[in-house]
Amino acid sequence: MGVKIWRAEAPSNIALIKYMGKTDATQNQPSNASLSFTLDHLVSVVEVEESLSCRDFWAPLLSEEMSPIQLSAKSQERFISHFQFLKSAFKIPGHYKLRSANTFPSDCGLASSASSFAALTKAAHHLALERGEVKSEIDGFQVEDLSALSRKGSGSSCRSFFRPWALWRGEAAEEVHLPYTRLHHQVLVLEKEKKLVSSSEAHSRVTSSALFQGRVARAENRLKDLMSSLSEQNWAKSFELAWSEFWDMHALFETSVPSFGYMTPKSMKALDVVRKIWIAESDGPLATMDAGANVHLLYRMDQTALAKKIENTVRDFADVISSPSLSGESR
Ligand code: PMV
Repeated sequence: MGVKIWRAEAPSNIALIKYMGKTDATQNQPSNASLSFTLDHLVSVVEVEESLSCRDFWAPLLSEEMSPIQLSAKSQERFISHFQFLKSAFKIPGHYKLRSANTFPSDCGLASSASSFAALTKAAHHLALERGEVKSEIDGFQVEDLSALSRKGSGSSCRSFFRPWALWRGEAAEEVHLPYTRLHHQVLVLEKEKKLVSSSEAHSRVTSSALFQGRVARAENRLKDLMSSLSEQNWAKSFELAWSEFWDMHALFETSVPSFGYMTPKSMKALDVVRKIWIAESDGPLATMDAGANVHLLYRMDQTALAKKIENTVRDFADVISSPSLSGESR
Protein backbone atom coordinates (compact mmCIF):
# COMPACT_ATOMS: atom_id res chain seq x y z
CA MET A 1 0.00 0.00 0.00
CA GLY A 2 1.31 3.49 -0.89
CA VAL A 3 1.91 6.27 1.56
CA LYS A 4 -1.24 8.20 2.37
CA ILE A 5 -1.28 11.92 1.40
CA TRP A 6 -3.92 14.55 2.12
CA ARG A 7 -3.72 17.51 -0.24
CA ALA A 8 -5.44 20.87 -0.35
CA GLU A 9 -5.02 24.20 -2.06
CA ALA A 10 -6.08 27.72 -1.17
CA PRO A 11 -5.81 31.12 -2.82
CA SER A 12 -4.21 34.28 -1.54
CA ASN A 13 -6.19 37.46 -0.99
CA ILE A 14 -5.59 41.20 -1.11
CA ALA A 15 -7.19 43.46 1.48
CA LEU A 16 -8.66 46.84 0.54
CA ILE A 17 -9.45 47.56 4.19
CA LYS A 18 -6.43 46.34 6.09
CA TYR A 19 -5.96 44.11 9.08
CA MET A 20 -3.29 45.96 11.03
CA GLY A 21 -3.08 45.77 14.81
CA LYS A 22 -4.37 43.04 17.10
CA THR A 23 -6.36 43.10 20.31
CA ASP A 24 -4.99 39.66 21.20
CA ALA A 25 -1.74 38.65 19.52
CA THR A 26 -1.86 35.02 20.65
CA GLN A 27 -5.25 34.51 18.96
CA ASN A 28 -4.75 36.90 16.02
CA GLN A 29 -7.80 38.89 17.04
CA PRO A 30 -7.87 41.95 14.77
CA SER A 31 -8.28 45.50 16.05
CA ASN A 32 -10.63 46.25 13.15
CA ALA A 33 -12.62 44.44 10.48
CA SER A 34 -11.03 43.97 7.04
CA LEU A 35 -12.30 43.41 3.50
CA SER A 36 -10.44 41.48 0.82
CA PHE A 37 -10.66 40.23 -2.75
CA THR A 38 -9.56 36.64 -3.28
CA LEU A 39 -6.74 36.07 -5.76
CA ASP A 40 -7.52 32.84 -7.54
CA HIS A 41 -4.29 32.91 -9.55
CA LEU A 42 -1.99 33.03 -6.51
CA VAL A 43 -2.49 29.62 -4.96
CA SER A 44 -0.61 27.52 -2.39
CA VAL A 45 -0.76 23.74 -2.34
CA VAL A 46 -0.08 21.79 0.85
CA GLU A 47 0.38 18.04 1.18
CA VAL A 48 0.27 16.26 4.51
CA GLU A 49 1.91 12.85 4.33
CA GLU A 50 1.87 10.20 7.01
CA SER A 51 5.31 9.59 8.43
CA LEU A 52 6.97 7.03 10.65
CA SER A 53 9.19 9.74 12.07
CA CYS A 54 8.67 10.72 15.70
CA ARG A 55 8.09 14.39 14.88
CA ASP A 56 6.24 16.55 12.37
CA PHE A 57 8.43 18.28 9.84
CA TRP A 58 8.26 20.44 6.74
CA ALA A 59 9.86 20.19 3.28
CA PRO A 60 9.31 22.02 -0.02
CA LEU A 61 6.86 20.31 -2.37
CA LEU A 62 8.70 19.61 -5.60
CA SER A 63 6.62 19.72 -8.73
CA GLU A 64 7.30 20.77 -12.32
CA GLU A 65 4.30 23.07 -12.51
CA MET A 66 4.81 24.86 -9.21
CA SER A 67 7.43 26.81 -7.28
CA PRO A 68 8.56 25.18 -4.07
CA ILE A 69 8.03 27.44 -1.05
CA GLN A 70 11.23 28.48 0.68
CA LEU A 71 10.69 28.81 4.42
CA SER A 72 13.18 30.10 6.96
CA ALA A 73 13.66 28.01 10.12
CA LYS A 74 11.38 30.43 11.98
CA SER A 75 8.64 30.21 9.34
CA GLN A 76 8.89 26.39 9.29
CA GLU A 77 8.44 26.40 13.05
CA ARG A 78 5.35 28.63 12.74
CA PHE A 79 3.85 26.39 10.03
CA ILE A 80 4.49 23.18 12.00
CA SER A 81 3.18 24.74 15.17
CA HIS A 82 -0.12 25.64 13.42
CA PHE A 83 -0.35 22.04 12.19
CA GLN A 84 0.19 20.79 15.73
CA PHE A 85 -2.54 23.11 16.97
CA LEU A 86 -4.86 21.63 14.28
CA LYS A 87 -3.84 18.08 15.23
CA SER A 88 -4.83 18.76 18.79
CA ALA A 89 -8.09 20.56 17.78
CA PHE A 90 -9.04 17.62 15.54
CA LYS A 91 -7.50 14.99 17.82
CA ILE A 92 -5.33 13.55 15.04
CA PRO A 93 -2.80 10.94 16.16
CA GLY A 94 0.62 10.30 14.58
CA HIS A 95 3.30 12.34 12.87
CA TYR A 96 3.34 13.86 9.43
CA LYS A 97 5.51 15.41 6.79
CA LEU A 98 4.16 18.73 5.49
CA ARG A 99 5.06 19.91 2.02
CA SER A 100 4.07 23.12 0.27
CA ALA A 101 4.41 24.90 -3.05
CA ASN A 102 2.96 27.95 -4.79
CA THR A 103 1.57 28.43 -8.27
CA PHE A 104 3.54 31.71 -8.38
CA PRO A 105 7.29 32.30 -8.20
CA SER A 106 8.59 32.10 -4.65
CA ASP A 107 11.32 34.69 -5.13
CA CYS A 108 9.02 37.49 -6.25
CA GLY A 109 8.42 39.17 -2.90
CA LEU A 110 4.80 37.99 -2.61
CA ALA A 111 3.96 36.66 0.81
CA SER A 112 2.23 33.29 0.73
CA SER A 113 1.28 33.01 4.39
CA ALA A 114 -2.47 33.62 3.79
CA SER A 115 -2.74 30.96 1.07
CA SER A 116 -0.41 28.42 2.68
CA PHE A 117 -1.99 28.56 6.16
CA ALA A 118 -5.47 28.27 4.62
CA ALA A 119 -4.31 25.28 2.52
CA LEU A 120 -2.70 23.67 5.57
CA THR A 121 -5.92 24.09 7.58
CA LYS A 122 -7.95 22.49 4.76
CA ALA A 123 -5.47 19.60 4.35
CA ALA A 124 -5.52 18.92 8.10
CA HIS A 125 -9.32 18.94 7.96
CA HIS A 126 -9.25 16.29 5.17
CA LEU A 127 -6.89 14.24 7.33
CA ALA A 128 -9.14 14.69 10.38
CA LEU A 129 -12.16 13.43 8.46
CA GLU A 130 -10.29 10.13 8.07
CA ARG A 131 -8.02 9.92 11.07
CA GLY A 132 -9.38 12.34 13.69
CA GLU A 133 -10.87 10.99 16.89
CA VAL A 134 -13.76 13.48 16.88
CA LYS A 135 -15.06 12.70 13.37
CA SER A 136 -18.73 13.28 14.16
CA GLU A 137 -17.90 16.77 15.42
CA ILE A 138 -15.67 17.46 12.42
CA ASP A 139 -18.35 16.27 9.97
CA GLY A 140 -20.44 19.22 11.08
CA PHE A 141 -17.64 21.72 10.49
CA GLN A 142 -18.61 24.68 8.34
CA VAL A 143 -16.23 26.72 6.28
CA GLU A 144 -16.49 29.50 8.94
CA ASP A 145 -15.11 27.03 11.51
CA LEU A 146 -12.11 26.34 9.29
CA SER A 147 -11.65 30.07 8.73
CA ALA A 148 -11.61 30.64 12.51
CA LEU A 149 -9.05 27.85 13.02
CA SER A 150 -6.85 29.13 10.20
CA ARG A 151 -6.97 32.66 11.68
CA LYS A 152 -5.06 31.41 14.70
CA GLY A 153 -2.12 30.42 12.45
CA SER A 154 -2.17 33.47 10.18
CA GLY A 155 -4.78 36.21 10.55
CA SER A 156 -5.16 37.13 6.88
CA SER A 157 -5.53 33.42 5.92
CA CYS A 158 -9.05 33.35 7.40
CA ARG A 159 -10.24 35.45 4.44
CA SER A 160 -8.90 32.96 1.87
CA PHE A 161 -11.84 30.57 2.48
CA PHE A 162 -14.32 32.84 0.71
CA ARG A 163 -14.54 34.32 -2.73
CA PRO A 164 -14.63 36.68 -4.41
CA TRP A 165 -15.05 39.08 -1.46
CA ALA A 166 -14.37 38.24 2.19
CA LEU A 167 -15.21 40.29 5.24
CA TRP A 168 -13.37 39.41 8.45
CA ARG A 169 -14.71 40.65 11.73
CA GLY A 170 -13.84 38.90 15.00
CA GLU A 171 -13.47 35.12 15.00
CA ALA A 172 -13.81 34.28 11.31
CA ALA A 173 -14.33 35.72 7.86
CA GLU A 174 -17.49 35.43 5.77
CA GLU A 175 -18.44 35.88 2.14
CA VAL A 176 -19.93 39.24 1.27
CA HIS A 177 -21.97 39.87 -1.82
CA LEU A 178 -20.78 42.84 -3.77
CA PRO A 179 -20.92 43.68 -7.47
CA TYR A 180 -17.59 43.30 -9.30
CA THR A 181 -17.56 39.55 -8.78
CA ARG A 182 -14.75 39.30 -11.32
CA LEU A 183 -11.78 41.64 -11.35
CA HIS A 184 -8.40 41.42 -13.05
CA HIS A 185 -5.50 41.50 -10.60
CA GLN A 186 -2.00 42.70 -11.29
CA VAL A 187 0.88 42.95 -8.87
CA LEU A 188 3.76 45.24 -9.68
CA VAL A 189 6.72 43.46 -8.13
CA LEU A 190 9.16 46.20 -7.22
CA GLU A 191 11.40 44.67 -4.55
CA LYS A 192 12.18 40.99 -4.07
CA GLU A 193 14.27 41.14 -0.90
CA LYS A 194 12.97 39.81 2.35
CA LYS A 195 11.28 42.48 4.45
CA LEU A 196 13.26 43.84 7.39
CA VAL A 197 10.13 44.03 9.57
CA SER A 198 7.75 41.05 9.39
CA SER A 199 4.00 41.66 9.32
CA SER A 200 3.72 40.08 12.80
CA GLU A 201 6.18 42.64 14.08
CA ALA A 202 4.30 45.42 12.24
CA HIS A 203 1.01 44.48 13.98
CA SER A 204 2.66 45.01 17.33
CA ARG A 205 4.72 48.10 16.50
CA VAL A 206 1.87 50.15 14.98
CA THR A 207 0.22 50.44 18.39
CA SER A 208 3.10 52.74 19.40
CA SER A 209 2.13 55.30 16.74
CA ALA A 210 0.25 58.40 17.91
CA LEU A 211 -1.92 57.84 14.81
CA PHE A 212 -3.07 54.48 16.18
CA GLN A 213 -5.45 56.55 18.32
CA GLY A 214 -8.49 56.72 16.09
CA ARG A 215 -7.26 54.03 13.69
CA VAL A 216 -10.06 51.58 14.51
CA ALA A 217 -12.76 54.21 13.92
CA ARG A 218 -11.09 55.32 10.67
CA ALA A 219 -10.84 51.76 9.35
CA GLU A 220 -14.41 50.90 10.36
CA ASN A 221 -15.80 54.08 8.74
CA ARG A 222 -13.82 53.47 5.60
CA LEU A 223 -15.07 49.88 5.50
CA LYS A 224 -18.66 51.08 5.68
CA ASP A 225 -18.02 53.68 2.96
CA LEU A 226 -16.18 51.20 0.74
CA MET A 227 -18.91 48.59 1.02
CA SER A 228 -21.40 51.29 -0.04
CA SER A 229 -19.29 52.60 -2.91
CA LEU A 230 -18.67 49.07 -4.23
CA SER A 231 -22.38 48.24 -3.86
CA GLU A 232 -23.29 51.37 -5.81
CA GLN A 233 -20.59 50.54 -8.37
CA ASN A 234 -18.96 53.88 -7.69
CA TRP A 235 -15.49 52.84 -8.86
CA ALA A 236 -13.82 56.25 -8.49
CA LYS A 237 -14.95 56.57 -4.87
CA SER A 238 -13.81 53.00 -4.19
CA PHE A 239 -10.39 53.92 -5.57
CA GLU A 240 -10.13 56.96 -3.25
CA LEU A 241 -11.11 54.88 -0.21
CA ALA A 242 -8.70 52.01 -0.97
CA TRP A 243 -5.95 54.57 -1.63
CA SER A 244 -6.43 56.41 1.67
CA GLU A 245 -6.64 53.09 3.51
CA PHE A 246 -3.21 51.80 2.48
CA TRP A 247 -1.66 55.23 3.06
CA ASP A 248 -3.22 55.22 6.53
CA MET A 249 -1.56 51.84 7.25
CA HIS A 250 1.81 52.98 5.86
CA ALA A 251 1.53 56.21 7.89
CA LEU A 252 1.15 54.03 11.00
CA PHE A 253 4.39 52.24 10.07
CA GLU A 254 6.26 55.49 9.52
CA THR A 255 5.04 57.05 12.78
CA SER A 256 5.65 54.01 15.00
CA VAL A 257 8.35 54.20 17.65
CA PRO A 258 10.84 53.15 16.36
CA SER A 259 9.58 53.97 12.88
CA PHE A 260 9.85 51.57 9.97
CA GLY A 261 8.63 51.49 6.40
CA TYR A 262 8.28 49.50 3.20
CA MET A 263 7.79 52.14 0.50
CA THR A 264 10.74 52.51 -1.84
CA PRO A 265 11.40 54.96 -4.67
CA LYS A 266 10.03 52.30 -7.05
CA SER A 267 6.78 52.06 -5.06
CA MET A 268 6.40 55.83 -5.36
CA LYS A 269 7.11 55.65 -9.09
CA ALA A 270 4.45 52.95 -9.55
CA LEU A 271 1.89 54.87 -7.48
CA ASP A 272 2.62 57.96 -9.54
CA VAL A 273 1.87 56.01 -12.75
CA VAL A 274 -1.50 54.98 -11.27
CA ARG A 275 -2.36 58.50 -10.13
CA LYS A 276 -1.46 60.00 -13.52
CA ILE A 277 -3.71 57.46 -15.27
CA TRP A 278 -6.61 58.44 -13.00
CA ILE A 279 -6.00 62.15 -13.69
CA ALA A 280 -5.68 61.69 -17.46
CA GLU A 281 -8.53 59.24 -17.94
CA SER A 282 -10.82 59.92 -14.94
CA ASP A 283 -10.60 56.17 -14.53
CA GLY A 284 -8.04 53.60 -13.44
CA PRO A 285 -7.47 50.56 -11.26
CA LEU A 286 -8.04 50.25 -7.52
CA ALA A 287 -4.60 50.31 -5.90
CA THR A 288 -3.34 48.99 -2.61
CA MET A 289 -0.15 47.92 -0.84
CA ASP A 290 0.45 45.40 1.94
CA ALA A 291 3.30 45.47 4.44
CA GLY A 292 5.77 45.51 1.55
CA ALA A 293 6.97 47.59 -1.37
CA ASN A 294 4.85 45.96 -4.07
CA VAL A 295 1.74 47.58 -5.54
CA HIS A 296 -1.44 45.57 -6.15
CA LEU A 297 -3.94 46.75 -8.77
CA LEU A 298 -7.51 45.57 -9.35
CA TYR A 299 -9.21 46.31 -12.66
CA ARG A 300 -12.81 45.96 -13.80
CA MET A 301 -13.28 43.42 -16.55
CA ASP A 302 -13.71 46.23 -19.13
CA GLN A 303 -10.29 47.70 -18.25
CA THR A 304 -8.05 45.15 -19.96
CA ALA A 305 -6.54 47.74 -22.31
CA LEU A 306 -5.75 50.00 -19.35
CA ALA A 307 -4.04 47.12 -17.54
CA LYS A 308 -1.86 46.47 -20.61
CA LYS A 309 -1.03 50.18 -20.77
CA ILE A 310 0.08 50.26 -17.13
CA GLU A 311 2.06 47.05 -17.61
CA ASN A 312 3.94 48.65 -20.53
CA THR A 313 4.57 51.85 -18.58
CA VAL A 314 6.13 50.13 -15.56
CA ARG A 315 7.95 47.42 -17.53
CA ASP A 316 11.39 49.04 -17.13
CA PHE A 317 11.28 49.03 -13.31
CA ALA A 318 8.75 46.37 -12.26
CA ASP A 319 8.03 42.70 -12.87
CA VAL A 320 4.33 42.25 -13.43
CA ILE A 321 2.32 39.22 -12.33
CA SER A 322 -1.21 39.25 -13.73
CA SER A 323 -4.31 37.13 -13.36
CA PRO A 324 -4.84 34.78 -16.33
CA SER A 325 -7.92 36.81 -17.28
CA LEU A 326 -5.49 39.55 -18.35
CA SER A 327 -3.33 37.32 -20.48
CA GLY A 328 -6.29 35.99 -22.41
CA GLU A 329 -6.69 32.76 -20.46
CA SER A 330 -9.82 32.41 -18.37
CA ARG A 331 -10.33 30.37 -15.25
O1 PMV B 1 -1.83 37.77 8.35
P1 PMV B 1 -0.67 38.63 8.62
O2 PMV B 1 -0.32 38.68 10.06
O3 PMV B 1 0.52 38.34 7.71
O4 PMV B 1 -1.09 40.14 8.33
C1 PMV B 1 -1.04 40.73 7.08
C2 PMV B 1 -1.63 42.08 7.14
C3 PMV B 1 -1.58 42.87 5.85
O5 PMV B 1 -1.25 42.05 4.75
C4 PMV B 1 -0.54 43.97 5.94
C5 PMV B 1 -2.94 43.52 5.60
C6 PMV B 1 -4.07 42.55 5.32
O6 PMV B 1 -5.15 42.82 5.80
O7 PMV B 1 -3.84 41.55 4.61
